[in-house]
Amino acid sequence: MIIAIDGPAASGKGTLARRLAAHYRLPHLDTGLLYRGVGRIMLDRGFPLDNVEIAQAIAENLDLADLDAEKLRTRDTGEAASVVAAHGPVRQALLALQRTFASQTGGAVLDGRDIATVIAPDAEAKLFITASPEERARRRFRELVGRGELADTADSYQAVLADIAKRDARDSGRADAPLIVAPGAVVIDTTDLAIEPAFAAALAAVEAALR
Ligand code: DC
Repeated sequence: MIIAIDGPAASGKGTLARRLAAHYRLPHLDTGLLYRGVGRIMLDRGFPLDNVEIAQAIAENLDLADLDAEKLRTRDTGEAASVVAAHGPVRQALLALQRTFASQTGGAVLDGRDIATVIAPDAEAKLFITASPEERARRRFRELVGRGELADTADSYQAVLADIAKRDARDSGRADAPLIVAPGAVVIDTTDLAIEPAFAAALAAVEAALR
């Protein structure tokens, strides 16, 4: 069984993907980490993010085992990830790894932007997790303040909201594998949902899809 989960930044899809994976005892891949890994290496080595050939070479040599989720969750890494993710050859270079992960015997949970549309269009269960830009900005803001990455001010909240809007526009507006609701996907809006009711809704949608 493949569970495909897509949605915009800070929609709660990562938390729900982890919870579903634990519930069904399936391996989970946060595919955003792949793009974050490429973006991070580009930043660390001082390569311009629009250099498609270098980004592609980095993507081709990316090793899942080297990706440190904690280090890759920073603001500048997310922004860089979104830029390199718009390069078709980068997406192509990361395709086989994701398809291999998805086709493990027993199944898998993958979350990202193009799981149900490109990576695993035959997934048994497809979820599209979303929330209002303001609520997603609030969540991301609290996370960044909690980690000491941002000051707890109205201005820095506004900056996060602007980041989210820019990232939405880039992820949804790109030509290659844009973020869209796949045919057959169940949309769950978590704007007014705490984690537990959101998980209950996600679980119910997966159970319904499996029936
Ligand atoms: O989910 P995230 O915030 O970690 O993703 C970071 C960026 O990576 C996101 O802005 C777009 C890109 N991405 C993508 O294009 N396709 C995916 N399947 C996952 C992430």
